[in-house]
Amino acid sequence: MTETIQPHGGKLVYRLVEGEERGRLLELAKSLFQVPISAWAISDLDLIGVGAFSPLTGFLGEEDYKTVVEHMRLADGTVWSIPVTFPVDEQIAGSFQKGDQVALVGEHDNVVYGILNVESVYSVDQKHEAVKVFKTDDPAHPGVQKLLSRPATNIGGSVHVLNRPKAEKFEEFYFDPAETRRTFVANGWKTVVGFQTRNPVHRAHEYIQKTAMEIVDGIFLNPLVGETKSDDISADVRMKSYLVLLENYYPKDRVFLGVFPAAMRYAGPREAIFHAMVRKNYGCTHFIVGRDHAGVGDYYGTYEAQEIFSNFTKEELGITPLFFEHSFFCKRCGNMASSKTCPHDATEHLHLSGTKVRAMLRDGQCPPVEFTRPEVAQVLIDGMKEPEYQV
Ligand code: ADX
Repeated sequence: MTETIQPHGGKLVYRLVEGEERGRLLELAKSLFQVPISAWAISDLDLIGVGAFSPLTGFLGEEDYKTVVEHMRLADGTVWSIPVTFPVDEQIAGSFQKGDQVALVGEHDNVVYGILNVESVYSVDQKHEAVKVFKTDDPAHPGVQKLLSRPATNIGGSVHVLNRPKAEKFEEFYFDPAETRRTFVANGWKTVVGFQTRNPVHRAHEYIQKTAMEIVDGIFLNPLVGETKSDDISADVRMKSYLVLLENYYPKDRVFLGVFPAAMRYAGPREAIFHAMVRKNYGCTHFIVGRDHAGVGDYYGTYEAQEIFSNFTKEELGITPLFFEHSFFCKRCGNMASSKTCPHDATEHLHLSGTKVRAMLRDGQCPPVEFTRPEVAQVLIDGMKEPEYQV
């Protein structure tokens, strides 16, 4: 089988333990110190386990943590922009030491998700991390808020994964990197563009996806379905919107839909690098970065998530980013465009704020077809009737 692209760091990590060895480790876990693990960390653990976060074999130890925060690299120089850490209460951290193994036990369900080999126990300056990673320590920033709400002591070390979180819905769209890689090869796709999203796909998303599709063999539509901030549209509703869009407007043999079960960090530029490295692990050769990728509020410049790629060489990134300008529908052109292709001024462009679109959907109104496909709008209107949006 020919590989399309090398995983980040050269080798796809696999830390899932099966068969007899799994039984042995589950037995061992009973005698180990039990550390509670949150849903967020379980998702990180699982993504480490299947190699989506290759070359990470566990949660970052102190040395890697420091170089990631300061220089966007692991201690060995490999590009890595987001600290994937495992914070624990100081009191808990005092119960074991370097060299011990601990069992990671779901804080809500008591399931033993894995075993961590404690290679490092260290405290961190969260404000410093926030400024470096999020470019702000404003507690109103959802990523910073999350960081500050966690304990400031991390344990790092390699992991063995013994149980996996269960997908509540859309189970058929969960694929591990080894599976997506196999699928892309089986489809005969030599080039595959990855698309990250935490939103329903509107016409601007569709436009940049399809523009990319003109130059590659296939697209991996990879919506993030892990933890997002409360006012983002639920993964459930979004999945329905992707399905109806693909059904009506995309050639079936050129698109592969699979979820990305990671938490959203809202780290803008740094998260764009992280998203690209992870999609490389899933087998993508190209990755779309549009306007304000993984941004929130006004914390990042419109194209900062593109500019950050210039800090790294083509070779060390491995995956090719495809940058897109802010796209919109131009009434004079009569099509989707960007400032690269449209000569008309902003008064000719259709601009709708997220708040406005949301208000329309909540009132049962379809936004203009130039903004959202009617089939997608209908799914969103129905979704907005769910109790979680009745605020
Ligand atoms: S993200 O937080 O997951 O990046 P979103 O789902 O809105 O947010 O965006 C998915 C991708 O589409 C990102 O690469 C983003 O930069 C890009 N994008 C979103 N809207 C536009 C637009 N109007 N023009 C160009 N790119 C866009």
